[in-house]
Amino acid sequence: MEKTTVVLLGATGDLARKKLFPALIKLAKITHVTIIGAAKENFSAEQFREHIRPPDVDAQQWQSFSNQLYYQPFDAQEESSYQELASFVNRFPSEHRIVYCAMPSQYFCTITEFVGRSGLVQKQKKHQVIVYEKPFGEDLKSAQALNACIVRWFSEDQIFRIDHYLTKEMVENITLVRFANTVFEPIWNSKYIESIHVILHEKVGLEGRGAYYDRYGVIKDVVQNHMLQLLALVAMEEPAHLSGDAVRDAKVRLLKKVSVVDGVLGQYQGYRAEPQVDKHSNTATFALLELAINNDRWRGTRIYFSTGKELDHKTTGIRITFRTVTCALERVRDCLPNVLTINIYPTGGYSLALNVKIPRAVSDLDFEESAHIKQIAMDYQQFVQVKPQPEYVTIFEEILSHQISVGVRFDEVEEQWRIADEIIAKQFPLFAYEKNTKGPSQAALFAQEKGISWSQL
Ligand code: BG6
Repeated sequence: MEKTTVVLLGATGDLARKKLFPALIKLAKITHVTIIGAAKENFSAEQFREHIRPPDVDAQQWQSFSNQLYYQPFDAQEESSYQELASFVNRFPSEHRIVYCAMPSQYFCTITEFVGRSGLVQKQKKHQVIVYEKPFGEDLKSAQALNACIVRWFSEDQIFRIDHYLTKEMVENITLVRFANTVFEPIWNSKYIESIHVILHEKVGLEGRGAYYDRYGVIKDVVQNHMLQLLALVAMEEPAHLSGDAVRDAKVRLLKKVSVVDGVLGQYQGYRAEPQVDKHSNTATFALLELAINNDRWRGTRIYFSTGKELDHKTTGIRITFRTVTCALERVRDCLPNVLTINIYPTGGYSLALNVKIPRAVSDLDFEESAHIKQIAMDYQQFVQVKPQPEYVTIFEEILSHQISVGVRFDEVEEQWRIADEIIAKQFPLFAYEKNTKGPSQAALFAQEKGISWSQL
């Protein structure tokens, strides 16, 4: 079995503890992996193992995993730390090496230079790769400077800019369903589709990430990356083939046509009292945005994004609302629009709201009553019995098999920042909202004005 070494920079942080280690434990069951954690804490290997041990891990599994787990205290700003780390890592010869930067992006350029100089990742060695977590930069300008720094040291096929949404099963499924089913393509345009609404509502709050969140806010945390990726996949033109650079090319072409129309922002009550948050912060934790796609396919279709922290429940998906037809049947009352919902969370699957006639009961003599129009929904979740594997397991697997589509290419990142910068520059009004609601009441009004179905979200 081929051996892999994972060097995790920022190994004691939130992402590492919550997502990366649980995924590595699973990965260790299927491949030979040695993990070297590096972070600023002066831990012994034993203290480190205890620090990151997931509460629910099986004892035997943990035992075999922790035998492959090492720790090296390290200062991300000190070049000598990288040299020490490199000599430590060289003690474990392996076919694959992944250096994973699970640290804030303001350190990425320094990290890159020192990783390059110490030889932890060597240019042109295809099986040595470097992974950067999102957000990649803080705006278009800083992202460009960062990228210029990275490409000096590594070749594009060694660089993975991660967006974990790209490995969600349902997200991977969007392109397949769109392009492999005859029923969608002819009506996938503004003549038939009235609006596309990308939804990423969260019940959780900051989860101990106050310093990070207050600096980035909702637009840079999820709109700039996850939500724009979802829109790009749903709205792009058909790529030459459904993988790698062909899909990335199609996404970039789409993103270039996106502009910002309108919006309303929110901040939940109590946010300013959160640890590590500025007491006078105007960082938005909620956004309801209207965008437009200025191309022949989508001109005239309204594009909405809604997202926020501390909302009444978590739901992630895309609602595609079709234009209503004029009903020809006399007895039929209002025809409601067909809505195709791509559910990402809580249940993966699709649902389609259709106008149907309710069957008349034999004893039912009241024809008027039986001719009511109702909506039905089809959800295929019940047929998909397999529980999808955690996204970060897929991320590691795909990096190991060099599937570049697990990452975002820099021209996509650039377009995403252009749009995020445009949203921020518009300075949409910021309103307070209570936790456990759907956001500020002004958002409900905005939704009403625009005709967005809001209360049923
Ligand atoms: C992360 C954001 O990228 O995505 C978090 O930093 C957010 O703030 C998370 O909670 C949402 O991801 P998921 O997979 O839970 O929908």
